[in-house]
Amino acid sequence: MILAGCLNQSEKELKLAHNQTLDHPIHLSLVEFGRLVEEKSNKDITVTIFANGQLGSEREVIELTQTGAVDVAKVSASALEGFDSDYSIFSLPYVFEDYTEFESVMNNDAITDQLYFETEDIGFIGLTYYNAGTRNLYTKDKAVTSLADMRGLKTRVQPSQTSVKMIDALGGIPTAMAYGEVYTALQSGVIDAAENNETALVGNNHGEVAKYYMYTGHQIVPDMLIMNAERFNRFTEAEKLIIEEAATESTLYHEEIWSETIEEMTETAIDKMGVQFIEVDKSIFIDAVQPLHKEYAASDKTKEIYQLIKGGTTGE
Ligand code: GCU
Repeated sequence: MILAGCLNQSEKELKLAHNQTLDHPIHLSLVEFGRLVEEKSNKDITVTIFANGQLGSEREVIELTQTGAVDVAKVSASALEGFDSDYSIFSLPYVFEDYTEFESVMNNDAITDQLYFETEDIGFIGLTYYNAGTRNLYTKDKAVTSLADMRGLKTRVQPSQTSVKMIDALGGIPTAMAYGEVYTALQSGVIDAAENNETALVGNNHGEVAKYYMYTGHQIVPDMLIMNAERFNRFTEAEKLIIEEAATESTLYHEEIWSETIEEMTETAIDKMGVQFIEVDKSIFIDAVQPLHKEYAASDKTKEIYQLIKGGTTGE
């Protein structure tokens, strides 16, 4: 019997893990990724999705992807910071002027080719990114419009040193924790605030507890699709291409459904949950984090990627 590739059939079933609910746009886009992989490979390669964080927190799932217990995972770039310092740049507050700048960086092959493959020696590669919106601050008890309001505010951030430093720079008290723990932490008062895109309010019910959502726009952190490097490399070149193309096409699909979902969820948060959406003067927050920009522009760990992203400027 002649084998078409180096993998047996069970090795052609890809286990994909992520931490969002089944009606979250990212889940739909990952379903689309699976559909495309199967269609392009004539059902030779299949994708099975484990949603809702059932295989663990993002950190745990990255570790499982390194060992190969999970083949593919969708995780925030913030969670990858602990594995590769280049990813920390995505949590640097206000590193992108706006979504257009973010998009041009994420679609710049000179940046992503390096980023996606530099983690190969620690067990995984990047396949694509997904829009995970703009992150804004939300609180339980009071609106935050100034740095004085931030003082002493116990604020949940992702497990990312840069996000911890961000809340420090703004005068709050950062608490890093996994996403799955945030609802209970807000409800019980372990934290006063969290920060995320609008889907957290409705899809994860945070809007039941947090009633003030401030448009601070402090981060645009992509979600990343990563894959166990060994598993990827054992596919044939044609199969690798199928996986990569399906990943890129699912990113475009995600882009199409994202904005509409945000609009719908914002309406639901206002009408059904009584969340107030509040515009703030961002310049106050931008000024407060400038020391962090100086630090990242100068640090040996981040200066190269910082300069790539900022187009050769040093942020001075
Ligand atoms: C976003 C992101 C998730 C992440 C979450 C978080 O929703 O898409 O991947 O887990 O933020 O704040 O932890």
